[in-house]
Amino acid sequence: MKNFLSINDCSTEQLKELLAESRQLKKLYKAGGRDLCLSGKTLAMLFEKPSLRTRISFQVAMTDLGGSAIYVKPEDIGGIGKREPIKDIARVLSRYVDGIMARTFEHNTITELAGFATVPVINALTDFSHPCQGMADVLTIEEHCGRLEGVKIAFIGDGNNVARSLAFACAKLGMKMIIATPAGYELDAVSIETANQISADSVSQTNSPAQAVVDADIIYTDTWVSMGQEDEKQKRLDDFAGFQVNAELVKSAPGAKIMHCLPAYRGLEITDEVAESENSIMFDQAENRLHFQRALLKKLMS
Ligand code: CP
Ligand code: NVA
Repeated sequence: MKNFLSINDCSTEQLKELLAESRQLKKLYKAGGRDLCLSGKTLAMLFEKPSLRTRISFQVAMTDLGGSAIYVKPEDIGGIGKREPIKDIARVLSRYVDGIMARTFEHNTITELAGFATVPVINALTDFSHPCQGMADVLTIEEHCGRLEGVKIAFIGDGNNVARSLAFACAKLGMKMIIATPAGYELDAVSIETANQISADSVSQTNSPAQAVVDADIIYTDTWVSMGQEDEKQKRLDDFAGFQVNAELVKSAPGAKIMHCLPAYRGLEITDEVAESENSIMFDQAENRLHFQRALLKKLMS
């Protein structure tokens, strides 16, 4: 495993190993232990979009493992692929650092970085996918449901980057996912087919949130307006009306845990009441970004 660009690129065995390492490192760090496997190593972190969780959790993870991280805003380097070609950035950084993580608009940017870098490259969210989020989510689901096999996730909202990574994770790890979106916002057919080729019937779609939540173990939502879609905001808010995760919707799946990758826009995709309810596990999810990413960095960079 050289890079971590998509959950889909990893075997089930590799994903299970990463989960096991995440659990082990979580236990170790909670007990006050340390694993300094990245002592003297440096990670460059390139961000074309804002971030709270990803930026801080990666930086802390590097520090925890004895290494260090450098945060790079696109304007610091004249834009990714603007002041100089992406392939040159990849090769120059590879001479200085031991790993590159990047959050980009276009998915091609990260695949091109990975194609030219000689050090590991990590996808920290693109318009296409968010694999670190997907794996932290899986870790969280395992902790709360006690299993992955047969867990049913109802994803309500936009068929976006977060939905796509979770769909691949479901297919690889024995879970079922039903995605409820307004018409026109479905996850693309190729991604659905890819997931269902990995594991038959693992991912399905509907335009009915009420239908999706029946028998759900997990109800998951994400923003209706992803970073980069700000111009479409008003249209999206109109189109997604009826797709809010609120008390009425969760009533039909009373035991379901509520997940959100955050940031959450209360009053839009989720009500404050549901976000703050007893079944909400969104902060465990946010915490697990750190635990998963320690395992990922250790696997790729040590
Ligand atoms: N969930 C997530 O990736 O959050 P940030 O955008 O704050 O990194
Ligand atoms: N779908 C959201 C996720 C944010 C973590 C976005 O891309 O903005």
